[in-house]
Amino acid sequence: MLLTIDSVLTAEELATAQKLLTESAWVSGLITAGTQAAQVKNNQQLPEDAPQIAALRRLVLGALNRNALFFTATLPNKIMPPFFNRYSGATNHYGFHVDNAMRILPEDGGYIRSDISATLFLSDPDTYEGGELVVNDTFGQHGVKLQAGSMVIYPSSSVHQVTPVTRGERIACFMFIQSMVRDPNQRRLLYEMDIALLQLRQNIGETEAVVSLTGTYHNLLRQWAES
Ligand code: NI
Repeated sequence: MLLTIDSVLTAEELATAQKLLTESAWVSGLITAGTQAAQVKNNQQLPEDAPQIAALRRLVLGALNRNALFFTATLPNKIMPPFFNRYSGATNHYGFHVDNAMRILPEDGGYIRSDISATLFLSDPDTYEGGELVVNDTFGQHGVKLQAGSMVIYPSSSVHQVTPVTRGERIACFMFIQSMVRDPNQRRLLYEMDIALLQLRQNIGETEAVVSLTGTYHNLLRQWAES
């Protein structure tokens, strides 16, 4: 499932993030690439010891924490601390690749399984040319280029690329999420059911049938979720 979540950041948060990123020094994006990805990755990334990274991560994770759509679409169990990247000049693209399935969590050294990948766009799309995220899934190829502050989530299992930025710079935040529900089809069913329930609740209120279906949602989640 590929899903766009608009305005994840408020205008104020976006301005804060952009200011912190302007002050940052960048290094080669190869610091987090797996063997295959390293062959095609040509961008820059914020290093782990960047003074701004802690504040940037707090800001993004805080915004995700209050976002109900993000929660129901991903059912997050663990989130890898977000990374920040830049495409511009000679380091301007990331060819077709698949994200690593397993990553080490920096805090406790344990593993996180990457079920869902997310890109939070941080540059105004009018300020750069190219830099489209292209995701191949079972329904074909999707090109994604969003307003600054908006996010796309897509299966980490999909092959994807970022096309060359030929003018300006594209700064984004990316992260990997381990879902409580590992199976993407089950996750999708739960998401669709939750959204339909939300509409039913708005349209007809808490009828007996709506309460009963809400119970079914939670019982399915209970059956499928791991925490
Ligand atoms: Ni990727």
